[in-house]
Amino acid sequence: MIGAPRLVGRVLARELPPRALRYALLNQMNRWFKTGDSRFEFERLYLEKSDPWDMRSSAYEREKYRRTLDKILEQRRRSERVLEIGCSIGSFTARLVEHFSEVVATDFSDEAIARAAEYCRGASNIRFIRSDLQSLKLDTAFDVIVCAEILYYIEKPRAHTVCTQLQRLLAPHGIIAMVGPADGEADFWENILTREFRPVLTDIIADDIRPYKIVLFEHS
Ligand SMILES: C[S@@+](CC[C@H](N)C(=O)[O-])C[C@H]1O[C@@H](n2cnc3c(N)ncnc32)[C@H](O)[C@@H]1O
Repeated sequence: MIGAPRLVGRVLARELPPRALRYALLNQMNRWFKTGDSRFEFERLYLEKSDPWDMRSSAYEREKYRRTLDKILEQRRRSERVLEIGCSIGSFTARLVEHFSEVVATDFSDEAIARAAEYCRGASNIRFIRSDLQSLKLDTAFDVIVCAEILYYIEKPRAHTVCTQLQRLLAPHGIIAMVGPADGEADFWENILTREFRPVLTDIIADDIRPYKIVLFEHS
């Protein structure tokens, strides 16, 4: 992310909209008050880069989506409702719509949700919700919950809240798909979810660019 003087310069040059300054200020306040909320860091990131992880163009991401979807489709018991947490700009969401009758895609970034909604505008079976996973309020339970490349952004002391949410949102026969790097950070969340749920499948992909892991869980 760029520093404050460059950020102001880019806003004055109209390369970034003025709300970039508001995001920067709110992000700084979250840091000062140690709230653990990183939302405005992502809002800024999405303003500065339209596709921060090259999700729409990278062959690595494409292959990861393909493998994740294959594993989910192999293990799912029903295809009615899927919940995607941290949907970003909607790249994986666009694949989910083809296999589930109802897709709920969430992210705590307004900028990400707006881009995802635009990307998936042709599909009628998607609902986008801007919310932090920890405060997400939905009355429905889901056949599949996707947590791809998101859990390691949440502070470890929030693990209990995250698990309570996932327990509540997962249907009795449902599965959670966790995707993350195959290193120490992923292990923390894998251990936490293994304590609360039952792992049903682990796929470790030794990719040269970045090894990653797909782990599926069900209720224990
Ligand atoms: C690396 S992107 C992952 C994108 C997508 N899941 C994928 O695999 O292509 C992480 C996303 O998680 C979102 N995010 C991070 N923490 C979150 C939280 N606590 N609640 C909801 N979304 C969150 C960020 O805004 C970002 O869009």
